[in-house]
Amino acid sequence: MCGIIGILGQHQVAPQLVEALKRLEYRGYDSAGVATIDAGGDLRRRRAVGKLVNLSDRLVNEPLSGRSGIGHTRWATHGAATEENAHPHQRGKVAVVHNGIIENFRELREELSGSGYIAESDTDTEVVAMLTASHLDQGMSPLEAARATLNRLQGAFALAFLFDGEGDLMIAARQGSPLAVGHGDDEMFIGSDAIALSPFTDRVSYLEDGDHAVLTRSSVQIFDSANRQVNREIATIDVGATVIDKGGYRHFMAKEIAQQPAVLGDVLNHYIRNDRIVLPEGMDFSQVDRLTIVACGTAYLAGYVAKYWFEKLAGLPCDVDVASEFRYREPPLSDRSWGIFVSQSGETADTLAALHYARGKVAKTVGVVNVGTSAIARDTDIALPTLAGIEVCVASSKAFTCQLAVLAVLALKAAQDRGRLSDAELARHLDDLRSVPALVNQALTTAEECRHLSGWLSEFQDVLFLGRGPLYPVALEGALKLKELSYIHAEGYASGELKHGPIALIDQHMPVVVVAPRDALFEKTVSNMQEVMARHGQVILVSDSEGIREGGDGVYASLTMPSGGGIFAPIIYAVPMQYLAYYTAVAKGTDVDQPRNLAKSVTVE
Ligand code: F6R
Repeated sequence: MCGIIGILGQHQVAPQLVEALKRLEYRGYDSAGVATIDAGGDLRRRRAVGKLVNLSDRLVNEPLSGRSGIGHTRWATHGAATEENAHPHQRGKVAVVHNGIIENFRELREELSGSGYIAESDTDTEVVAMLTASHLDQGMSPLEAARATLNRLQGAFALAFLFDGEGDLMIAARQGSPLAVGHGDDEMFIGSDAIALSPFTDRVSYLEDGDHAVLTRSSVQIFDSANRQVNREIATIDVGATVIDKGGYRHFMAKEIAQQPAVLGDVLNHYIRNDRIVLPEGMDFSQVDRLTIVACGTAYLAGYVAKYWFEKLAGLPCDVDVASEFRYREPPLSDRSWGIFVSQSGETADTLAALHYARGKVAKTVGVVNVGTSAIARDTDIALPTLAGIEVCVASSKAFTCQLAVLAVLALKAAQDRGRLSDAELARHLDDLRSVPALVNQALTTAEECRHLSGWLSEFQDVLFLGRGPLYPVALEGALKLKELSYIHAEGYASGELKHGPIALIDQHMPVVVVAPRDALFEKTVSNMQEVMARHGQVILVSDSEGIREGGDGVYASLTMPSGGGIFAPIIYAVPMQYLAYYTAVAKGTDVDQPRNLAKSVTVE
């Protein structure tokens, strides 16, 4: 899940590489590096540990000239975040940047050490540079050397090679990790995604698995795994230029939370028009016998909420699975079932592999995806955009609620197709769903109270989140957000499950956030809350004013949510979960938009 960029340009390339890396930093920020070929044809590189800004600073003091270059932003897999382990890796006359994992690197490294090529880093990537250098030393041309190297590699990779003395040549290859080619005017680019290429060109083609590309400034030739020359369609991409604009907010996360009423309005207007659900042809659930929703992290929790909706509204059995478990369990899938793959980035390796596993076994694969140009969007039978816009903060907020909105539309369509709702019931649910953007807007007013409570929360080591029914996954999401942003240990539990174990943890040092709208299950959750308070647990009750009036006695604090939204209330209740995590992170002084050890696009298993 590193980010790579390569440019054969007309201008000084180092600043352009850094500009592109800024857009890729969401993929990892353990170190960054660039290599360029100067006017004399010499290959030189600069690398720096930590955020990209460290590399930029270094380039100010030790500039690199040249119009050809490659760059990398790293999320460490093999080897610590040190300068030796930072990319580009350069051996002899070749420099390489890599996203993915070379699975047979140990074997190759051992083999190369026998011929005197000794590793200088702990990375898997260096072996690619070493192997290519060894091929060049045997007298092969750059293309022959790169091809001979690619033939030996096992695992997942997007690679770019630059060669000393070859200022008008770059070789790129893709196996499992995404790679886009940008077509300019007498300039050529490669990058991990189209967003990285957006400052330079909007004309983009995508390499397919097994492809490699030979680029000059004026041409690109793409070859498949059998070395046959192939055409890959060039599309015009609209990625906008807003990716690094915080819009006056202190953090991208604050901006993205605040954008939710608008983007939820957009996505619901896209799928519900004139009281009708509008979905692409083929989205008819009447013959479907089961749904399998597969995703990771927050996207998985969106799927988990949707399970309640599909089962309750449409009477449609629905499994929801973490992609990394699903793919290796090899679950039997009915050919009358559909697989739904939920992903913000559309590149998550496990979700993509799960999709590939399900293809051909289920009747249809559906993607619920934010990045429309991504692999999951391209590889599913039907891709439904979540229209959240670019999400920069590594922790997902608006992408989550937009995923929920799309899944809510699907659940209503399933209920309609299966004859489970009368016209009046469907109309009522549609009204509830359409009220969500306005209610989310009201929920944004909890920000100040959340900020206030977060000062208190930030003093604790552990926090418990409880919810019931479709609010249980929201409690899980509250815990996930809190731990990833503030590094406070947090757990989400089904309220009813509390007394089966976790209640043993309760004392005055374990605050408990209870997410409970005043619905049919409310009384039961209030009883669970009483059990917590009887053991000196301090409760933050997140409920509507009726719920707080009925169940708020004795709580440490309450957060008043707007009433309404019906069965779709989980979308609204996501907001205080986001704010509690956000403000606790701010109170603790952690890096909100780029929390430690994380990356936004998880393209390794
Ligand atoms: C948490 C978060 C992650 C992602 C997960 C899946 O805030 O953002 O848990 O949800 O890595 O990523 P996508 O949705 O890109 O497949």
